[in-house]
Parts: sequence; structure tokens; C-alpha cells
Amino acid sequence: MLKFKTTALDRFKSDNMAIAVCEDGEIHAEPAVRELIANATALQEFTPERDRQVVLHNAMQGRVARCLLIGLGPKAKLTVETFRNFAGRAVKEAISARQNGIDLVVPLDPSLGLETAAVVSALMEGALLANHKDTRYKEKPKNNLLKQVGLCLPAGTAKRCRPLIARTEAICDGVRQAREWVNTPPNEKVPEQLAQAYAQMAAAAGLKVNLLHEPQLKRQKFNALLAVGAGSSHPPCLVEMIHAPAKPKKSIVLVGKGVTFDTGGLNLKPSTGLDTMKADMAGSAAVAGAMAAVARLKPDLRIIGITPIVENMPSGSATRPGDIVTSYAGKTVEIGNTDAEGRLILIDAMAYAVKKYKPDVLIDLATLTGACVVALGDKIAGVFSRDDALAHAIVAAGERTAERCWRMPMPEDYRELLKSELADINNNASSRYGGAIAAAIFLSEFIGDQRWAHIDIAGPAFLKKGPDYGAPGATGFGVRLLCDLIDHL
Ligand code: BES
Ligand code: ZN
Ligand code: ZN
Repeated sequence: MLKFKTTALDRFKSDNMAIAVCEDGEIHAEPAVRELIANATALQEFTPERDRQVVLHNAMQGRVARCLLIGLGPKAKLTVETFRNFAGRAVKEAISARQNGIDLVVPLDPSLGLETAAVVSALMEGALLANHKDTRYKEKPKNNLLKQVGLCLPAGTAKRCRPLIARTEAICDGVRQAREWVNTPPNEKVPEQLAQAYAQMAAAAGLKVNLLHEPQLKRQKFNALLAVGAGSSHPPCLVEMIHAPAKPKKSIVLVGKGVTFDTGGLNLKPSTGLDTMKADMAGSAAVAGAMAAVARLKPDLRIIGITPIVENMPSGSATRPGDIVTSYAGKTVEIGNTDAEGRLILIDAMAYAVKKYKPDVLIDLATLTGACVVALGDKIAGVFSRDDALAHAIVAAGERTAERCWRMPMPEDYRELLKSELADINNNASSRYGGAIAAAIFLSEFIGDQRWAHIDIAGPAFLKKGPDYGAPGATGFGVRLLCDLIDHL
């Protein structure tokens, strides 16, 4: 799919090429490209403001049949993310122009001030992620995606960046898988089906898989997870995906919330917003997608993905507000609100992970609270951890991948929001303020002194309009973040 093309641009031939153009300065070093840009910006119809574009035909003395120029705006504002978006836009334009492929010119002028490897990775990511359309549910799917994406760069740079191709392909495949799982309609991903999908992926990728079905969950007392599943005719289950090299330097457990549909249970949700609740398993999809990438990248770490999977439904057998259950960790929980179900399935999965694996780091991803979306908007995830270094590492990974994360506080005195008269704790906070924080504190009560961080992805998991390298709906948020983080822990 991805190819490096090292022929100098004053000789290079292409059917379809794209060049990024800055408003107020050069980012390309090659004279052939600079000349083409000078000619294009002399045209009335093109100015290199952000998101403006023009297509030139028979450019570069006829060697380039079709050349798309996209404006990036002022040079001082360029970031690595600008190049993900540029590549995404270019690929989408090429698809709608019925092209077979595209060659992206890598900007390499030293004055650009961005790391070359980061720019090359970003161009590849933007291109691969934009070259994806979910046509599984069309009667007559038409596959007009690009067959080939080239990156034009000098041989020396190509040599240094060569390993990035396989890495980026592995990660972007993980993102695309995660998106497809999240976009899958809820009638086709009831817990057993979603668990099978993850297990099949993991087995095919060469990971060890362990699937716990309802009888095992009952025997092992995953009572909080079982309580959430009680109203559904599709029983809950839990998948473990394990990457275990011979002598791992560290061990990491990733836990992802897998609610295949969240009606709220007996605390039924209002109809607005219900339609997106098929995406309430996005945390689990991010974990499974990251595990798919891990299986190919083979880091020298023991990495275990755990996904508790459940459907939250109201019915005669559903858990009632006021029910009390004994969680896997042993603490009792009064279920004050059946719509605060994510935290219930996570505490059992995490307590199980802590007991079984005692990892160096535990991270959970979950579409956990609407309150987090109120706090940070729908493009930024909330990070909760009492471990400063871990929180900083996650925020830094968010900056590199543009899967943005913002650290939130976990003040000890907010614990009192979760008091229960009868049980050890209530899953429903007594105040509607600070809901994302209360949820994180609730989770923290079940993992002892385990080094841990929680990432609330309720906002960025599912968007009406994604970035230029995404489609509306599932974003696959978390896969790139986790893969980057794993490399920096
Ligand atoms: N799945 C929701 C959170 C959510 C909301 C995700 C919006 C994506 C978009 C979660 O299970 C939930 O319902 N949380 C409640 C908690 C409350 C009952 C304490 C919420 O946020 O309102
Ligand atoms: Zn809920
Ligand atoms: Zn939920």
C-alpha cells in the first residue's frame, strides 16, 4: 500500500500528486516543487490559505498528469497534525476524482522545524486512515479506495524512515478495525458476537486468547459485571488477548469498556443520544485494535488486553436501582443508577487483572461519562491518575498522536460523593457535578495500590464529523495513543 519514491522531482513521473503549500514561506526544498508552487500561486484561483485547493493538469513539464495543491495557512502554525489532515484531504479528493493512487510530496525544507520522521509518519497515517470506507452494510458496495499511496522523498531519508512503513500500517490497520467494530450495528455485536470478533482477530494475529463465558464469570464472582448483563437475553463475557514475549521488560494491562448497547437499563436513557450508544464499547475496540497492532509490532513487553463485554438492557430480570452486589474485589456496591454501568464492569475486570497479572501499569479506556464530554468537549479525552509520571506520559502520547488528552484531578475528598448507607460504596454520585471525577474515584476504590490510569473517551470515540483523515462515526480513538504510549513507558 505505502511506497517510498526516491526519484528526484525534476525527473519524477506521476499520474496523481499532492503538494502542501504554505501561505507565507517555503516548506519544500526541491526547486521543481518551488517553481510549480510559484506558478500556481500566481493564478487567480489559488491562494495557499488553510484548506484552499487547486488541481493542475500536466504539471512539471507534463510529467505530472494531475497535481493537487492544498493550502496549509501560515507556516508558524504548522504542526505534525497539519500533515495528517493534508494527507487525509488529498486522499479523499483523489478517491472522489476516481484516481488509483496518489503521490504525496514530503516537505523537507529544514526551516519547517518539525522532525522528519514525525512528518513522514503523519503523512502515512493521514493517508491510510482516510483511505477507508465502511461499506459492509451496503447492498452494492463500490470499492473505489486508492490502491497505492506513494511518498516522494530523497533516498537517504527513505532509508532512515523505512521501518516506519510497517509500523504505521500495523497501527492504522488497528485503528480501522476498531472503527469497524464501533460502527457495527448493535444487533450484530451482542456480547458473544463481539467477543468472538475480538478472539478471532487475536488468534489470527498470533496472540493468546482466553474467553470467559457467563458460567465462568459466575463461578469466579464477577458479580458487578453480571449485574449489568442481567437484563439482557445476551449474557456477558470477557476476552483476554495476550502478547507474551520470552523475557518482557515490563507488563502492561489494558482494559476496555465493552458495552455493546447502553440503554441505561431500568434508569432508561431518554431517546436523544440513545442511537449512539452502540459506540459504548469503543474502549474495548481501542484495546482490541491496539492488541492487533501489538501482535505485529512485537514490543519487548508483556501486554494484555482485557475486555469485559455486556449489553445494558431493561427487563424483568434487569438489575434494579438499589440492588447491592459484591464485586470481584470483595467490596459491596449499591447500584444507585443502572446507567452508571461502565464503572461496574470495569471494576471487576480491573480487580481480576490486578489479582491475576500484578502488572507494572494498568490502563483502562472507557466511554464512561457524559460529564467528561461536558468538561472537555468531544475532541479531548480525560486522563485520571494519581501517578504523575503516568498521567504525563499519556498526555505526551496524546500530543504526539493528536489523540488529545487532558489530565483531570482526583481529589481525595470527593470520595464522599460515593457514600452508601448500606453498602461499601454507591456507583451513583450524590451530586450531578463533577461526574467524570466521581466515576474515576469510584474505579480507584477497587484496584488497591496498583499503578493505574483511566482515560475517559466518551467524547472523542464517536464524532458527527471526524478530522480530515476520518469519516463520521467511529474514530478509533485510543489505538494510536496506546501504541505510542507503549513505546514510551
Ligand atoms: N455510556 C455512558 C456515557 C456516555 C455518554 C458515553 C455520552 C458517550 C456519550 C455511561 O454509561 C453513562 O450513562 N453515564 C452516566 C453516568 C451517570 C448515570 C452517573 C452519564 O454520564 O450520564
Ligand atoms: Zn450508562
Ligand atoms: Zn455506558
